[in-house]
Amino acid sequence: MSAPDLREIYHLALGAAEEAGRIHQERLHFERTIATKTSPADAVTEVDRACEELIVSRIVAARPDDSIVGEEGANRTGTSGVAWYLDPLDGTVNYVYRRHDFSVSIGVEVDGVPSVGVVYDSSAGEMFSAIRGQGAWLNGEPIRASGVRELGMALTGTGFGYDAAYRLQQGRVFAQIIGRVRDIRRGGSAALELCGVACGRLEAFYEQGINKWDATAGIVIIREAGGIAERIEPPEVPQRADGNGHVVVAAGTREVYDDLRALVIGASNEAHG
Ligand code: IPD
Repeated sequence: MSAPDLREIYHLALGAAEEAGRIHQERLHFERTIATKTSPADAVTEVDRACEELIVSRIVAARPDDSIVGEEGANRTGTSGVAWYLDPLDGTVNYVYRRHDFSVSIGVEVDGVPSVGVVYDSSAGEMFSAIRGQGAWLNGEPIRASGVRELGMALTGTGFGYDAAYRLQQGRVFAQIIGRVRDIRRGGSAALELCGVACGRLEAFYEQGINKWDATAGIVIIREAGGIAERIEPPEVPQRADGNGHVVVAAGTREVYDDLRALVIGASNEAHG
């Protein structure tokens, strides 16, 4: 089978993200929560579902043999080796509160390797994107991760899940990290936080229990911006076979990454011990 055309996939992702972003903005003041998922705090709006349907229909029309996994339930198994991970509205709770930290996140793996990433912040009109081996951009201009080398000077993003018991564990890890970094930010859209690391608005990021649809695009964008981003599996923490629920650690430099990774693994193992 010939290698997939990453440029074609990239343009398909950009177009779908732009269309979904228009829906975010058109319906921002009319949206309704229509369901909850993993806990009463985990909202789904009509916009999440409409955007996922739209993105899936664009992918299927152009590339019917690809796999697709979407936060709102899309689940197609393809044969091409190309897999799309979609969060049609990352930061749903912000959206419901009309807080401007939400995005469309579209990440693509080729044979399991994160290869294309597109994250669109429709409120700010900011399109973050990257193609493996070709670069990372914000609205078409190249971006670069921060060169800060000390964890103690790294402004660090994180996030939390919706399950209260799991959050308590995340809180125990957080307690060990807050005193070791410059400060913490919690924006509410993990995809956008990862893009923050890619363009120097943050210096590091970690989140336990993150899903592939939140992280795949951002991982490509950070790597292409010169930073480091990995899904890791601390040995003591039970992982799920579908690739969701991992820990993601990211940073602009190797030094910050290694220190943060060691702290997160140590603290997670203790929290689960
Ligand atoms: C959530 C956000 C949040 C992160 C959670 C995600 P959603 O996604 O990305 O920042 O901390 O882990 O579930 O529910 O808004 O699509």
